[in-house]
Order: sequence, then structure tokens, then C-alpha cells
Amino acid sequence: MEGGSAAGHMTLDVARVKKDFPILDRDVAGNRLVYLDSAASSQKPRAVLDAMEHYYVTTHANVHRGVYTIAEEATQAYEGARSTVARFIGAPSPRGVVFTKNATEALNLVAHSYGRSVLPAGQAVLLSVTEHHANLVPWLMLREERGTELRFLDIDGAGRLILDDLERKLDGVGLVSLAAMSNVLGTLNPIAEIAAAAHAAGAVVAVDAAQSVPHAVTDVAALGCDFLAFSAHKMCGPTGIGVLWGREDLLEAMPAFLGGGEMIRDVRLDGWTPNEIPWKFEAGTPPIAEAIGLAAAVDYLADLGMEAVREHEVSLTTYALTTLGERHGDDLRVFGPPDPDDRGGVLSFTYRDIHPHDLSQVLDNAGVCIRAGHHCARPLMRRLGVPATSRASFYVYNDEADVDALSEGLAAATDLFSF
Ligand SMILES: Cc1ncc(COP(=O)(O)O)c(C=O)c1O
Repeated sequence: MEGGSAAGHMTLDVARVKKDFPILDRDVAGNRLVYLDSAASSQKPRAVLDAMEHYYVTTHANVHRGVYTIAEEATQAYEGARSTVARFIGAPSPRGVVFTKNATEALNLVAHSYGRSVLPAGQAVLLSVTEHHANLVPWLMLREERGTELRFLDIDGAGRLILDDLERKLDGVGLVSLAAMSNVLGTLNPIAEIAAAAHAAGAVVAVDAAQSVPHAVTDVAALGCDFLAFSAHKMCGPTGIGVLWGREDLLEAMPAFLGGGEMIRDVRLDGWTPNEIPWKFEAGTPPIAEAIGLAAAVDYLADLGMEAVREHEVSLTTYALTTLGERHGDDLRVFGPPDPDDRGGVLSFTYRDIHPHDLSQVLDNAGVCIRAGHHCARPLMRRLGVPATSRASFYVYNDEADVDALSEGLAAATDLFSF
């Protein structure tokens, strides 16, 4: 899947990668599909689709209960997926890997269980103004319910977190919850540095890694975090499954989130005893096929090499920033850090005074899919002083021709709206 480059690094063979994604064979109104919305949800390679189909065709049964062959095979596959995920994020053991519905549910689990029961009353929670609603609303709910103080890191003009007064901001904070990468600005936040400062101040650190795990090497030990949340569907896997990794001692100290089957060891009419972690947090029949699809996605990405994935996105983002800037000049306002090394492959922009929704529709006529709106980060939109932005986001199957198609689409929008 990889080839050499002049610099001696392994690089992605994007032409080959594209062939792994059947959806890219379709056209939209006579144009090839140019998918530039992977930050919202990525496309799925054949390997993931096949793994899920194979499971349903050969193995499906409920997990953890049956003592017959296919039930045991299903359980092995489901628990095997947990081990695969643990290895991918550098987790010391699969016991810390909880399968959830998505990153949103994973963050709600932290806010609901840790936030309500373990976080000492009177301690504050530190967030940033750039957070996705998934890492904001659960904390706003906690504030409403318990009066928990919320503090926010602000950003500078380039969309980087302002950390000058971090020590002061951390005073009295019991939990820090931040995105590793902004889904709007693309900014890569210095999580390891912030986590070290947070720990020194006695706070635990939750990381919303929905935009980082799909795009770069993840190692929870190197990040120094205590919780890590992400979704399968943004990393070539299926919808319907996400992950909360947590430090085992913290997960053990936390009360169950949802109640029902699977998450109990015993139930009596006068009470119940929770299961061990991670099952304590997995009430009801879990997303079995989805876990198998997620494991296949992890294998697929690991095979490409996460260093190569990151390198490809830096190179494509560099190309996009340069060529779009040269061609469209001041008509284009790009948000976020100017240096591609400081950002992921997410490009939020405004173009002339064309509304992002209109722009998205014009681009759709050319088969180019981009996102328009507030990107579930309304406080950040207010902070940036815009109602909405357009957002193009890149992944392993995008190449320079896709960026060129975006550029052509912008030029076409200029023609259409110049009257
Ligand atoms: C930074 C960030 N956090 C959380 C989420 C929520 O992910 P999901 O909708 O899969 O729960 C997203 C999704 O766009 C995101 O970009």
C-alpha cells in the first residue's frame, strides 16, 4: 500500500487507496465523486464492508451469553476487536476500552459518570472555546445540574489555544477536556504539554480525539491523558460505534452510566452489582458487527501506516493552502494555523460573500462534497464572528486532483454569483 519517496519516507499510493473505496466509483450528476467531507464522516474501504458482511453471513449471534459455537466465535470476534483498538491507541490493556455509540456518547459517559460522581464538588472543568458541541453540551448540563464552574481557553488570531496563563486557569480545576484537533480550525492542540500541566495541578485529562485518531499515530501514554474518546465512522469504520478509553483505576471508580443487561454481575429485587470494566459501561446488546468493522478499519489504517496517513495529509493541506491561496487570493479567507505542520487536513473558509450553503450547492453540481454550517461548534463561530463557514476535509483517498476540483468549483461559484 505504500511506496517510497525522494525523502526516503513511506508515502501513500493514493491511486491504489482510492480503489479500496467502492463509493468513489460512483458519479454525481455526471461528475466523479470528489468527497471532501471526511471530518464529518469518512468513506469505507471494501475490507471493512467485507468484514462486517462476513460476520453476518457466517458468525452472527449475541455475545457473552451463548455456549454454542457461533456465539463463542462472535464473542471472540467482539473481544478481539477491543484488543485491536487497544493496541492501535497504545492502551496498556483492552480492559480500558469501552465501546460506546460514538465519541459523543463517550464524552457524555465521562461527564455523566466521572463528572457527577468522582469529580469533587467545587472543582472546575477546563474546556476551550473551540470545542465541538459533543465536548461542550455534556459539561453545560453538568453545570446546570451541579453548579460546576466551567472555564474556557481562548484562541489567538491563528486559531491556536492561548496557553500563557494555563497555570492560573488550572488552579482549582479537577478535569480538563479538550479536542486533540479542532474540527473547524484544524488546529492540533499540544495535548501532552497541557496534560502535564493539568496533572501537576491535580486535574485529570479527557481528550476528544474524534478528529485526531483517524489521522495520526495515537498513543495514550505519550499523550498523557486519562480518557480518550473517538468514533469509528470518521476512521474508515462503520457508524454506530465509538470508543471511550479510560485509565482503569478511574473507570473502576466511576459508577455505571446506563443500566440493563451485560453491565451487571448480579441483580436482585433489592439491588444490583455492577460487572467489571469495561462491560460495566456496556449496557444491552453491544454493536457487535460494528466492533468487527472498526477492527477491520484499524487493520486497514495500520496497514497504510499512520505516519504515512499524517504525512499525506500535511502534503495535501500544503498543496491546498498554496494553490487555493494563489488562485483565489483575498476572495478566500481560511481559518486556523497557516503552517500545515500545526494543523490537520481540515480547511474551514469563507469565500467572497457567498453563503457557505450556496457555495456547497454549487460545488455539489460539480460532484464536490464539502460541509457548510456551524460544524457543531456554535460558540467558536461566534468567537470567529461568522455565522457559518465552508469546510473541506481530506483523508487517505484524496489527492491533488480533488483539491483542483474544489478550486474549479470556487471559480465557477464566482461566475455564477457575479451579477
Ligand atoms: C471534534 C469532534 N468531537 C466530537 C465529534 C462527535 O462525533 P460523533 O458525532 O461521531 O459522536 C465530532 C464530530 O464531528 C468532532 O469533530
